[in-house]
Amino acid sequence: MWVFFGSLFLLTTGTFSVEGEISFMRHGIPPARETDETRASSPEWGTISQRVDHFNPADNRMWDMVVVAGSSYAGSLAAWARIKYPHKIDIAYSSSGPLHTKADFPEYFAAVEESLRLASPTCPQLIRRAMADAMKMLETREGAATLSELFNTCEPLKGPVEPDRSYFLTSLSSPFADVVQTADPGDLVAECERLENNTGSDLEKLAKYIKPLQYCIWTYDLFKEYYSETHAIGVRMRSK
Ligand SMILES: *[C@@H]1O[C@H](CO)[C@@H](O)[C@H](O)[C@H]1NC(C)=O
Repeated sequence: MWVFFGSLFLLTTGTFSVEGEISFMRHGIPPARETDETRASSPEWGTISQRVDHFNPADNRMWDMVVVAGSSYAGSLAAWARIKYPHKIDIAYSSSGPLHTKADFPEYFAAVEESLRLASPTCPQLIRRAMADAMKMLETREGAATLSELFNTCEPLKGPVEPDRSYFLTSLSSPFADVVQTADPGDLVAECERLENNTGSDLEKLAKYIKPLQYCIWTYDLFKEYYSETHAIGVRMRSK
């Protein structure tokens, strides 16, 4: 049996901003075309290493053991941390941490879609049609303005301008990823029902589903501002 007394846990969870590239847990994890070299230079490594060193004993107490734990992208970080600092980190717990890096990860949403399909075959079809409409509307200024209003975005959408466009489309799809992963705010049958019970066009049904989930829908600029202030907010640790 492991005795964890005196152990240091670094809990790495959530979303990271890496060298200006947004690496969401689900989308392009970790940063696209990351090589061993760029991976090694990501600021989290410095942070993780520093935290371990920092909590090394100013008080003459040695940590018996250092454990890193994380899920999803943070699970990747946990596993890589152990590989990179085997002399500092004794155990890595990596839950669903993708280790094979690739530029895109369409398999993720294929699994989300399949889960929704099992709950209600018409549910992912509705989402697909609504997303197609949204993509078409983003091509024009007028369409973008209509979408901004329909979905109550915190700032006006910029239309076809990247990454504003992709970020918005992500906010339309990620609630379904969340519900598949966590059954929150409800199980898939209930959530698909809630979506499909809405009235109006497919896009209006989607908007009525998405809007109540947030005070307003974030834009990329807001997101970037928020994360540049807090830097690597995903790194949390339990102090002694
Ligand atoms: C959706 O509508 C059906 C039929 O009116 C109703 O039985 C069901 O409770 C509704 N589901 C939700 C989640 O509102």
